[in-house]
Amino acid sequence: MRLAIYPGSFDPVTNGHIDILEKTTRIFDKIIVSVVHNVTKQALFTLEERVELIKESTKHLDNIEVESFNGLLANYIDEKKACAIIRGLRTVADFEYEAGMATMNKILIPKVDTIFVMADTKYIYLSSSGVKEAALLGGDISLLVPPIVKAGLEEKLKDIKL
Ligand code: COA
Repeated sequence: MRLAIYPGSFDPVTNGHIDILEKTTRIFDKIIVSVVHNVTKQALFTLEERVELIKESTKHLDNIEVESFNGLLANYIDEKKACAIIRGLRTVADFEYEAGMATMNKILIPKVDTIFVMADTKYIYLSSSGVKEAALLGGDISLLVPPIVKAGLEEKLKDIKL
């Protein structure tokens, strides 16, 4: 079975991430979306909330599992017996960072490769922090995130005073 891991902080999941999943679920037998606590980022949603938002947003895809993990990605991939890591590429600006991570992971777990999938052109400038900032400032994010994420953001941000 061709199992791939799609790791990320997903704070929160956006339509850009869903687009990557819609493309890659056609290629792999199963994908585990792995929500990671990124120590360099301060998260708005808890790991459990992020997992739940992804589950709700991917109900139309039947070969997906969603979970969270802490620790080294290479160890997690080995434990799951996955054959690939999926990462989305938006613009050339992503390349440097992604190439570094892919190289590091290749050294840590040589039998696994990172597969890059180009983001749809309408999502190339989309990011989770961009969505959070737009929502905080009252922008309409309906075209950028699934409805459940929009509702979750409204709930989280309603008490934040600018
Ligand atoms: N559509 C929309 N947004 C996208 C996107 C797409 N197709 N592809 C990437 N992004 C955005 C995300 O929204 C995110 O935005 P933000 O910075 O505003 O939050 C940003 O690009 C990149 O985030 P993400 O894909 O979640 O990756 P990350 O850099 O937060 O985390 C991990 C990368 C989790 C894979 C990495 O830190 C990791 O593996 N951690 C585990 C520990 C480990 O093994 N470390 C060694 C790694 S070599």
